[in-house]
Formats: sequence, C-alpha cells, structure tokens
Amino acid sequence: MSLMTYEEVLPFGRMIRQDVEQRKMPPWHADPNVGEFMNDARLSDSDIATIDAWVKEGMKEGDSKDLPPAPAFEKGWHIKPDVVFTIPEFLVPKTAQDDYEYIYVPTNFTEDKWIQAGEVLPGDRRVVHHATVSVIDQAEYAKHLAEHAKENEGVDEFHFRTGKVLHLRPDAPVIDDGCLAPDGGGIPGHPSGYLNIVPAIYLPGHMPEIRPTGYALRIPAGAYLQFQVHYSNHHGLDVKDRTSVGLVFAKEPVKHEVAQYEIWNNMFRIPPNDSNHRVTSCFTLPKDVTAVAYTAHMHFRGKSMTTKAIYPDGHEEVLLDVPHYDFRWQETYFLKKQFLLPKGAKLMTVAYFDNSKNNPLNPDPSKAVRWGEPSDEEMMGFWLQFADPQLVTERPVTAQK
Ligand code: HEM
Repeated sequence: MSLMTYEEVLPFGRMIRQDVEQRKMPPWHADPNVGEFMNDARLSDSDIATIDAWVKEGMKEGDSKDLPPAPAFEKGWHIKPDVVFTIPEFLVPKTAQDDYEYIYVPTNFTEDKWIQAGEVLPGDRRVVHHATVSVIDQAEYAKHLAEHAKENEGVDEFHFRTGKVLHLRPDAPVIDDGCLAPDGGGIPGHPSGYLNIVPAIYLPGHMPEIRPTGYALRIPAGAYLQFQVHYSNHHGLDVKDRTSVGLVFAKEPVKHEVAQYEIWNNMFRIPPNDSNHRVTSCFTLPKDVTAVAYTAHMHFRGKSMTTKAIYPDGHEEVLLDVPHYDFRWQETYFLKKQFLLPKGAKLMTVAYFDNSKNNPLNPDPSKAVRWGEPSDEEMMGFWLQFADPQLVTERPVTAQK
C-alpha cells in the first residue's frame, strides 16, 4: 500500500498507530542496544507520540503548505542507478518450484568502476525468490560456466542434488558447534569464511545496499556479473523473468575497497520438534579489516543470531544481535561508525533454530533439517561486509584477497 498522500494514509491510521507503537513497523530486527547503524529504520519515541496524538485528535489533514516535497524515485528503484544490467529473458517453467539458476551478464566496462550503491530489481516478483549479484573477473568466467554446465555440479561426498538445488547428505558428519571444529563449521577442509564481492542482493525484506561515502566495491574492467537467481514458481503457469541490477558509481573519492566474508556453518543438523537448537560458526580474520555492515541469514526455522568478536588480547565485543530473526525481513545493517577488526580476531556466531510446531513459519516440524538451498531446508550464515583499512590511493590496485 502507498502511504504517500493523506487520502492513502487515512484508512490505515489506527493500524499505523498500532504497528508503530508495537515497533512492528518500520521493520528493524537488530537489538538497538548493540551497535549503531546508518540505515536504522526505527522511529523515535517522539515520532511515535506524534502519530499517537494525530490519531487521538481525529486524524485531521494538516496544512498542505507544510508538506515536504515527495521524494523522486525512478520507477521501481529505491536508488538512482547510473547503470542497469538486465538478464536476457529467462523462462521460468511452471515445474521450476525451487531452482537455482546462474546467469552471467558482461559489464563491458573498459576500466575499473567503483560501486557505492546497488539494488536488485526482480523482473517478476511472483517467481524471483532471491537473487544475489556477484562480481566475476573476466579470467574466472569460463571456469564458472564450465562448473555450472556440469550435471552434478557441487555434488561430492557431502552433497547431493535434486534438479537445480543442492542439499547436504543426511548422513554427512554433524557439526552443530562449529567453533569446536577445525573449519569453524564449514564443510570439512573448507574454512567457514568465504570471500565474495556482492554489489547487491534481493532477499525478503532487504533494502538496497547503500555504502557509506568513501566506501565502494570495485568492478574490474571486463568483469561479469553473476546473477544467482532462486526461482520458485507456484503459479501453475510458465513465467518470463528479466531481473536487473542497478548500480550507482561512487561520486566522492573512494578511500576503502569493500568486499564480504560469508561465514557459515554448513554441517549442522536440527532434530525434529526441537524448539531451541544451538548452532555456532567461527572464523578467524586472516588480515586487518574495517567492519562496514552485517547480515544474518537463516531460513524459516531461524530464531535468533548473535555475533561477537573475540579479540587477540582476549576481550570480547558483541557486534550484532538479532533476537527475533524473521526470514521475511533480512536486513543488512550498515554501521554508522566503521571500525578496525584486527587480524586474528575470531568472529563467533551463535544461532538458535525453532523446529517445533510453535514456529508458525515452520514448513515441517517432524523433519530433521540440514543445510540445503531450498527454503524449507536451512542455512546459517553471518556475512561481514568489510573494507581494506589501507587507503585505496596508498596501495597497488589488486583484487581483495
Ligand atoms: C513509519 C513507516 C511505516 C509505517 C507507518 C508502516 C505501516 C504499515 C502497516 C500499517 C502495515 C499493515 C500491517 C498489518 O496488516 O497489520 C504494514 C505492512 C507492511 N509494511 Fe510497513 N510501514 C512502515 C515502513 C515500512 C518499510 C520501511 C517497509 C519496507 C522496508 C515496509 C514494508 C511493509 C510490508 C512488506 C508490509 C506487509 C507485510 C507485513 O505485514 O509484514 N513498511 N506497514
């Protein structure tokens, strides 16, 4: 629903008061006592009191002279992209109830570009369940294509595939407490932290990635954009999709180059009917980084997630606490003040899952759940957007490693 005009707002007045008083709206799931975030959407107590008073006083229309100008957006976008890349038309057949597709779009950039903001615009929201856009170097492109062309892509001693989605084998070793395992909860032999360059992502409840001034990610000349699109077609009809990503170039001098560590536990097992199942992951930073933003990612059984840093001198600091995780609202929390996380600091994430019938979102409490790409299986990820603390101008231009 649009809340742009008095006429549009009036019928929802009481509902708006209730939702803002209960802090259900605007949506925000991080504990406000942990960290300060530049995209914090919460209303102040006085804003809420204003809405409350307005409803009590009969929801009168104010003086139109006091109206602020309406924000101008390009249709569909929350940002004003400088460039838009769109996948070729993709037919999502009615049988594609849970498919991961990898689609590559060349940037044709003839020079490196700095990206300050990005947003994914789903082509057809009925079928685009999520879409992650990652940067792939020209040199890596052929390897990616070959990998995705394999019928048994990703299948190994731990994984199996059904159609276009990957799952952990039910008999794979169980590692709930990743912090006790050598790989921190990652697949044995693969540490839990995985480096990725993500200009934008579309997840339920996710807003555009707007990085602080001076922080940007780099798309090298000639690079490709990988669209990992999770299609879920439950409409009984074939649907055509053309999903896009919009990018905003950095307008101010770039000081710090941004990338992302995706820290996972991929080996847990949630027993049936368990209402409070604990899973951890740990990742030790291999270099100094500047913390820029955090994202908590689980599926429908996700209940809460907390990440703390354990510094080399032993002291600890909670970075993010999402006490009531909701799969439908997966925000990325951009720090108001970026800060140094030193090499050797251990990032420890503790998540709880509710696989009981009391979780209204639970697809099936009778099932033991392991890692899997479909939403009715689970994931446990904490993603750290970080920057290289060294000024861009003071180091040779090389990809983040
Ligand atoms: C002060 C700002 C906001 C107000 C007053 C507001 C108000 C409301 C109200 C009254 C509802 C109906 C809830 C119901 O049926 O009980 C609603 C639902 C919704 N709002 Fe907001 N909203 C605000 C901000 C936002 C923002 C920033 C977003 C997106 C990021 C958003 C996304 C939604 C969505 C997707 C729904 C439907 C799903 C749901 O009920 O969870 N709203 N909002």
